[in-house]
Amino acid sequence: MRPIRIALTKGRLEKRAVALFESMGLNCEPLHNKGRKLILPMGDYEVVLAKAADVLTYVTHGVCDIGVVGKDTIAEGDGRFYEILDLGFGVCKFALAASTGVDFYAGHHQRVIATKYPRVAKEHFAQKGMDVKVIQIDGSVELAPLLGLAHGIVDIVETGATLKENGLAVIEDIMPISARVIVNRAAMKLRREELQKLLNDIEGAL
Ligand code: PRP
Repeated sequence: MRPIRIALTKGRLEKRAVALFESMGLNCEPLHNKGRKLILPMGDYEVVLAKAADVLTYVTHGVCDIGVVGKDTIAEGDGRFYEILDLGFGVCKFALAASTGVDFYAGHHQRVIATKYPRVAKEHFAQKGMDVKVIQIDGSVELAPLLGLAHGIVDIVETGATLKENGLAVIEDIMPISARVIVNRAAMKLRREELQKLLNDIEGAL
């Protein structure tokens, strides 16, 4: 049988996750000197470096047993897996923001919301019973209200610096975000012992 395979989100979460794996006593040398290799050994495990949305896909389909991915990606995606642990790093939030000083809720016109996260935005306003138009933007969503494309944005806020520097401010928080551990549903049954050991080790190192 192949080793337990971990899908790890490349980039910001990667560093913190590798530090965590190291504190569990796993040999992460291949993760430090990875070159262009995408499947890397880590002790008895195997690590696949992937884009966040692909982590959900690999774990949903069971080609990876376990994944480390942000709650933002989980909330926007439609993967099927167990969300087991909150790793407590990669902390930020989804928020609704608009130009500073603008009363976003004044009047009865339909609001236009720009976002990289249309599902999160639609669900947020659906819960309020508010009909909004959501426009998907791929990068620098903060531009949309500045250009007059949208009344507000739904985006990730970490330090708040990007909003501030662009004359925007948080109207309301939508959801806290942090890195999570997800597990394939079938693997949780078929390889329970191995996964339980890994999850216990992760939890112990937090
Ligand atoms: C995110 C988000 C904001 C910024 C917020 O973008 O979309 O632009 O971070 O961070 P702050 O509150 O600390 O200023 P990211 O840097 O992830 O780049 P992206 O546009 O590629 O998503």
